[in-house]
Amino acid sequence: MSKELKPFIFASLLLLLCAAGACKPARDLPKETEEQKEERMEWFSRAKLGIFIHWGIYSRGDWSESWSFHNKKVSIEDYFAQEADFTASRYDPAEWVSLIRESGASYTVITSKHHDGFALWGTEAGEVSAVKSSAAGRDVLTPFVEEVRRQGGLKLGLYYSLIDWPREDYPNLFREGPARYDIHKEPERWKHFLEFNMAQMMELASAYNPDLWWFDGDWEFSSEEWDAPGIVSALRKVNPSVVINSRIQGNGDYATPELGVPVVRPESRWWETCMTINDSWGFRKADLNFKDPGTVLRMLADCMSMGGNLLLDIGPRADGTIPEEEVKVLKELGRWISKHEEAVYPTRAGIPAGHVQGYTTLSQDAMTLYVYIPYAPATPLEVKGLKSKVKGVRVVGSDVLPSWTVYNDIDWSEVPGVYYISIPAAALDPSMTVLALELEEPLRLYRGSGQIMSFNQ
Ligand code: GLC
Repeated sequence: MSKELKPFIFASLLLLLCAAGACKPARDLPKETEEQKEERMEWFSRAKLGIFIHWGIYSRGDWSESWSFHNKKVSIEDYFAQEADFTASRYDPAEWVSLIRESGASYTVITSKHHDGFALWGTEAGEVSAVKSSAAGRDVLTPFVEEVRRQGGLKLGLYYSLIDWPREDYPNLFREGPARYDIHKEPERWKHFLEFNMAQMMELASAYNPDLWWFDGDWEFSSEEWDAPGIVSALRKVNPSVVINSRIQGNGDYATPELGVPVVRPESRWWETCMTINDSWGFRKADLNFKDPGTVLRMLADCMSMGGNLLLDIGPRADGTIPEEEVKVLKELGRWISKHEEAVYPTRAGIPAGHVQGYTTLSQDAMTLYVYIPYAPATPLEVKGLKSKVKGVRVVGSDVLPSWTVYNDIDWSEVPGVYYISIPAAALDPSMTVLALELEEPLRLYRGSGQIMSFNQ
């Protein structure tokens, strides 16, 4: 079968199945074992970096995405007047995708529909879309998805807002003030909305077969009210290996702490921090508070060191161009990741803070400890509490060898000796240097509070 035909045949088959009732929410999916889940989440564990894209009529840049009208910062009329400026006139999906690939990201998540209900694809289920109600007058999601699939190497995620504030059959329009109706008093109206959402999700599932669903807005109703298990099982029926974030009232696969990188490792086995480059998800003319590439790299290392991913957001303008400051960050991520690949994708969470001044990860076999140093050390780098002996130290991505020594390796004490590693200036990376400490055995740590002598020689 030709590559071009495959998606169409898949979509047609799916539509037939849906017509036959197979897309109805189903709860009869077999329960997966822990091993099966590990396998399904394998790509996500190795992913480390994803690129989030917020794009919609708000990308004209005057007000925040959806929240601006919900919080009455702007009238509904003025907010939706932005449709006339959503031109996508310089939109080059091939360029977007190659930039995302260049950044070293393993996946990308795009806002198919935000809380304002504006759909980037040509939805048949509703009237508010790039095709029907924007200056672009065309489907802008399909060309992006086609590029992702054509260029390869990236998993595709679709952000989908469960909330659709402007719709008459959705209960809430504004944050303050009375709701349009009570879903328990008017269950038919609510059912009508849920069917609309399901129809849109099925359109997306059949047209694009995403690898990941990124839900948002679940906080307004309970799992039961959204029929979250029904949604999840309908999507899994379409694609049994699909990954789903947790913003579907706990029915998903992984946690999504937002903006702040966690201080302690989240409890969830899988997680991802979503992060803006400035302080906004969508493009904002007035927001120039861009993080520099080194800061973003630290955040990536911080997430990796706790076993998580970083989902870094870009906000293209309404014409489809990506702000220069964001391009710069993605390119630097790409430079750094390609130089340090062995210390990125195959790694797992590192050791607790306190052993070394830097972030850490481990190789899967725990025979290599990676240390990420986002500064130039003024004195040798200190690593303490390693019960496993170090047999070699390398600077990843450099041939220059560091020198190192051990102090206080005392045979009466269970407290291990402390390593001091001098990194030659020539081996320092301009953003973040990575050391690989090769161990004689799988890592064992000393976690005690010190010891006094009980015998001596
Ligand atoms: C929030 C906001 C939203 C944004 C999202 C991204 O939940 O509602 O505007 O798109 O986070 O994480």
